[in-house]
Amino acid sequence: MASFIAMASSVRIRGYRRADERVVHAIARDGFEEYGAGAEQHIARLMARRHNYTWVATLDRQAAGFAILNAASGSLDAIAVAAEHRGSGIGGLLLDAVIRDARARRLTELQLVTAQSNVAALSLFQRVGFEILERRRRFYRAGQDAVVLRRFLSDDS
Ligand SMILES: CC(C)(COP(=O)(O)OP(=O)(O)OC[C@H]1O[C@@H](n2cnc3c(N)ncnc32)[C@H](O)[C@@H]1OP(=O)(O)O)[C@@H](O)C(=O)NCCC(=O)NCCS
Repeated sequence: MASFIAMASSVRIRGYRRADERVVHAIARDGFEEYGAGAEQHIARLMARRHNYTWVATLDRQAAGFAILNAASGSLDAIAVAAEHRGSGIGGLLLDAVIRDARARRLTELQLVTAQSNVAALSLFQRVGFEILERRRRFYRAGQDAVVLRRFLSDDS
């Protein structure tokens, strides 16, 4: 799979490598633990799932974020950026790479689920064209409500 030079600086988006495991797990723990214990194991299971593809954002060659796309269904199963690097555009670059990859795979839409209270994630997803489809009450083990979002890929936006 091709990698994308994503910024004039040193952010790069590429496929997951075994050597990323420790950092990706730490990012997952930090990003998802509030929704229930066992975030690292959950992410490891997602990454191993059939048709799932993991993108990694690197900053100065070090993993700084990741996204997991189910290339069969178009489900964006997870996206997270290391806390110290949030707000600098890395999540947006990961999403751009996922959208580009999904288009190359001839997927017609992407869907994802995120917490209704996750203002940063909702802001990012809506900025790149996702729309809220429905709400799921007490979706997460820790009790938070979730929303399902969808982005069609058939247009050029
Ligand atoms: C959601 C997440 C991946 C975004 O990554 P990021 O690298 O910070 O994303 P970007 O810098 O590209 O964009 C962040 C956007 O959120 C906005 N944002 C950040 N913190 C925010 C906050 N507290 N309130 C409102 N908006 C916020 C930024 O302004 C930016 O929007 P803009 O480009 O329109 O200004 C990151 O916050 C994260 O890892 N969160 C924990 C894991 C998670 O919740 N994942 C999503 C659910 S699967």
